[in-house]
Amino acid sequence: MSHPATLRRVTAIAATAITAVALSVPAAQGAPPEETLRSEAPRDLKIGSAVWGQNELLDYDRKNPTEFQRILAAEFNSITPENDMKWAEIHPEPGVYDFSGADAVVAFAQANNQEVRGHTLLWHSQNPQWVIDASASWTCQEARDVLEEHVRTIVGRYAGEIYEWDVANEIFQDDWDNGGVRLRTEANPFLKACAEDPVALIGDVFRWAHEADPEALLFLNDYNAEGINTKTDAYYALAQELLADGVPVHGMGAQGHLSLQYGFDTSIQANFERFAALGLKVAVTEADVRMPLGDDGEPTAEQIALQAERFDAMLQACINVAACTSYTVWGFDDARSWVPGVFPEGYATIMTEEFEKKPSYSALLESLRDATPGKSPRTPPGLNTLNR
Ligand code: G3I
Repeated sequence: MSHPATLRRVTAIAATAITAVALSVPAAQGAPPEETLRSEAPRDLKIGSAVWGQNELLDYDRKNPTEFQRILAAEFNSITPENDMKWAEIHPEPGVYDFSGADAVVAFAQANNQEVRGHTLLWHSQNPQWVIDASASWTCQEARDVLEEHVRTIVGRYAGEIYEWDVANEIFQDDWDNGGVRLRTEANPFLKACAEDPVALIGDVFRWAHEADPEALLFLNDYNAEGINTKTDAYYALAQELLADGVPVHGMGAQGHLSLQYGFDTSIQANFERFAALGLKVAVTEADVRMPLGDDGEPTAEQIALQAERFDAMLQACINVAACTSYTVWGFDDARSWVPGVFPEGYATIMTEEFEKKPSYSALLESLRDATPGKSPRTPPGLNTLNR
């Protein structure tokens, strides 16, 4: 499947027309048009959600969407394949690609006038067994060949369809013994094979991706990369090095996986500003705010309010920095959240399992509305509780 940019533009125009018609129906019947996150987004800011295409979108029928699909289309103008473009899913065997989930995500986006954030090309996790096995004896050149073929195949297939790619994901790891972070040259099989000069490999991954899709913005992306800290210092230095080398790196993504167990670093806006000063875009790419729950499995009123503040604080930073291109939540409903499967925590998204909108949703909606010229102003959210 190859979609040239022209086809994409035509599809977008057609989808806009269809959306306009759809939106005009309730108005014609006297009901106000529905206010959604995407309808209130200021400037060209993309408001996104992750979605697992393989699980949720294969059966998509635009005339008869599921409730999940209806909300995904109504609320968001950007979607990220939560797993479908990861190595293990899309390239399960050598020379064998499974595009079914990724294609479903792109087709859904086209049908609903949405953009797609690609995720991800170089990561230490969710690599297929054949990569793990083969990497045990890879030379750097062998690793490069495998990675280059993969990157050119995936990025080339969706060229013109993806506005941003998380090219390099989580490439730094904590290194407490040495007081900082270091490139993940052990867990990441590609960086391991090229551990003598991992930055050269990282630069080339960006180059291959850029050649395959010159229009896509190419991002570094990581967790614990919201505020100014040791890890973002390392990314800042890496970005400078790559840029000095002429590497087509275009953005820094802060995943935004927060927990109420920990404090919130209010330097996120300052962090975004320093990357923007390098000429890079920034983005919140995977926002969710989890929390430990009581024996009844329910959050307290205080937790619910604090969650809203933190979702909103990440959005405020994005709205306030012109270089921030997108704000993506990592799934919008608790039923599909990755959190309970991994942590003894939950309630991490902006809607309940029954798609009931939480105060976190309302906080995002209000901030987007306030940031849109002509919309009603409101008191800025207090930051007083953020550091508790
Ligand atoms: O591999 C099998 C697959 O073959 C099978 O079809 C499927 C059936 O359920 O299970 C698959 O494994 C699942 C995998 O996603 C799919 O590739 C795992 O059980 C599941 O635990 C795994 O979780 C994902 C996780 O990344 C893996 O590390 C989450 O859904 C996804 O939300 C999470 O996303 C990451 C971002 O990519 C990067 N940042 C952190 C974020 C949260 O961990």
